[in-house]
Amino acid sequence: MKIEEVKSTAKTQRISAHSHVKGLGLDENGIAISMAAGLVGQKEAREAAGIVVDLIKSKKMAGRAILLAGPPGTGKTAIALAIAQELGNKVPFCPMVGSEVYSTEIKKTEVLMENFRRAIGLRIKETKEVYEGEVTELTPVETENPVGGYGKTVSHVIIGLKTAKGTKQLKLDPSIYESLQKEKVETGDVIYIEANSGAVKRQGRSDTYATEFDLEAEEYVPLPKGDVHKKKEVIQDVTLHDLDIANARPQGGQDILLMIIRFIPYKRDQMEQILRLRAQTEGIQIDESALSLLADFGVRATLRYSAQLLTPASLTAKVNGRVTIAREDVQEVSSLFLDAKSSAKILSLNEDKYMK
Ligand SMILES: Nc1ncnc2c1ncn2[C@@H]1O[C@H](COP(=O)(O)OP(=O)(O)O)[C@@H](O)[C@H]1O
Ligand SMILES: [Mg+2]
Repeated sequence: MKIEEVKSTAKTQRISAHSHVKGLGLDENGIAISMAAGLVGQKEAREAAGIVVDLIKSKKMAGRAILLAGPPGTGKTAIALAIAQELGNKVPFCPMVGSEVYSTEIKKTEVLMENFRRAIGLRIKETKEVYEGEVTELTPVETENPVGGYGKTVSHVIIGLKTAKGTKQLKLDPSIYESLQKEKVETGDVIYIEANSGAVKRQGRSDTYATEFDLEAEEYVPLPKGDVHKKKEVIQDVTLHDLDIANARPQGGQDILLMIIRFIPYKRDQMEQILRLRAQTEGIQIDESALSLLADFGVRATLRYSAQLLTPASLTAKVNGRVTIAREDVQEVSSLFLDAKSSAKILSLNEDKYMK
């Protein structure tokens, strides 16, 4: 048999606008290091964000919100991302875009509420009484249909469960047989059955079968230790939204206390440093005079505008037969792409020429 390797069709991720940001870049005392973790300057805001991270970690942030306030391109989104990175992936982070809120189908308040609930994470720790082990046998026992007629029904299921310590045979209610089928449980799988609810969870295939020929991706788990019948601690990270999906949506809100972090516009040399960092992250070479012109544009328009000129400028450079972006390339692309302020100005000057 011939086996060919298949190339993944997953899209390669484009370099997003904030990929150089790795965290808040604070020292152990919470003081901002002038250039660290991909961030430059904006020290007070970073330190304030560090306090928020500490508040969250010490569980004192409940019922509070923060507002990042400042002109465009001053790093509000970048620092929001840095906060998320400092908190790790167990704390839900759900960015949303303004346009998501506008829909004829769903109310704005509902969209916002759902996003709030997606952003609130819970760690549920439960001690459950379970039967756990590798399935050694699985036999549905049928009886004549009690109502009469010809069909047969499952009266109960006999299941054998094995652990490193021993084996147990259980007689189960037919309703559990349905959940066993739903989870596609077969002999050789490691499962647990919750004693109270009868819920079945398939954990994977027992690793004694790890060498069997299996085309499907399969997760192998070790034979459970201890008794078949035992108390098991189950930890789950979920969001309120997950719970809403699982149950009916609970009602009722809470007052939120707002904390405001102020963002100050960057000085020219900080912009230049950030732009240099962006160029490095995007693998773009740029000469000093071009960088300096970009920084000028940053001062006149926004940092975001000049950062966005980097990629087109590198393409222009290539077209002009250069590896490194020169001043002319920056000049050329800046005349092609307008920043938001200038385009708004043109729009208002020529108001009468547009459709209303
Ligand atoms: N202090 C900073 N250090 C490094 N990069 C920054 C900093 N502030 C902003 N940036 C980068 O500049 C660009 C614009 O910032 P952004 O966070 O989108 O601004 P805002 O959300 O305040 O409008 C982004 O690419 C961002 O990653
Ligand atoms: Mg932003």
